[in-house]
Amino acid sequence: MKGLKDFDCQGKKILLRCDFNVPLSQQGNILDDFRIKQALPTIKYLIEKRAKILLISHLNRPRGKELKYSLKVVGKRLEELLGTNVKFLPDCIGSMVEQEIDKMESNEIMLLENLRFHKEEKENNPEFAKKLADLADIYINNAFSVCHREHASVVGIIQHIISGQGLLLEKEIKVLEEIIENPKTPLIAIFGGKGDGFRAINKISERVDFILINELIDKEIKKRKIVFKNPEKIISPIDDINTFDIGPQTIDLFKEKIKKAKTVLWSGPLGKIEDKEYRNGSEQIAKAIIESGAFSIIGGGETMEFINQLGLSSKFNHLSTGGGAMLSFLAGEKLPGIEALRKYG
Ligand code: 3PG
Repeated sequence: MKGLKDFDCQGKKILLRCDFNVPLSQQGNILDDFRIKQALPTIKYLIEKRAKILLISHLNRPRGKELKYSLKVVGKRLEELLGTNVKFLPDCIGSMVEQEIDKMESNEIMLLENLRFHKEEKENNPEFAKKLADLADIYINNAFSVCHREHASVVGIIQHIISGQGLLLEKEIKVLEEIIENPKTPLIAIFGGKGDGFRAINKISERVDFILINELIDKEIKKRKIVFKNPEKIISPIDDINTFDIGPQTIDLFKEKIKKAKTVLWSGPLGKIEDKEYRNGSEQIAKAIIESGAFSIIGGGETMEFINQLGLSSKFNHLSTGGGAMLSFLAGEKLPGIEALRKYG
């Protein structure tokens, strides 16, 4: 797979697939800019190389052109973080976009509107993919967190343009591959979130010593009567706070396991953290991971937002931009975005 540094980017139009899918408040303000910040080293590298930089991304899951999911707000944040102009274009394909790109000078940065305003993006539509590819000279995928999606800007595009991976994608793959190939054990996974984490349990259980799960996943498993291959590895909560957080006995049980771990992977909050009273479980577990001294990896937008709010993000070894993508990768699944780069990139 080619990397950013394998290309001569000077004066070239570089289409950089980012994941700027950030949480927004009701008023449309960015609640956590972690994913934007993680894209900066690649963008700065391209600035240094005097490329013409075209940034593309999705934001949320709009049904058609829902302007509350416009990337304009991300453009403003990028300008603040980079200290330079980022021109926002209100579409990602079409003659207006092409004309603006034609006028671009080296070092200029443009952010194109939400790819998912076109349903063809999620359909991996070949014509849409080709239209995106035709905008630039080189395509760089820097969006690890969307590589598990077979979308036009992640997969289809690669057949039409010289392609490679960005610095962030390269870093994510390197760290997570190391965990798969050479983990320090005991290796513990902690799955929280809204309940769909049960999907990754079977595959992950082949690689880890224990999986600690939250109430919602536990409920989902019971509801679906799922029988796992390694049930002895799955540690469910033994008490709860109004069903919205893990209770004190569970916290102690989880802490015991975490204390002995040499590697901990954590994806998804353990309780309903949007309510202050149900944050304790996740906070205690975050602190237990740090105290354990284990190599720690955290993934998923919500978990990251929470850790950032606690001011603890620097205490973890690797913060993955991927939620679903990280779990799929660690479960040993092939991610379509990465596979396409390997095949055609
Ligand atoms: C994520 O937040 O996990 C990625 O941005 C992918 O978003 P999606 O789950 O809406 O495809």
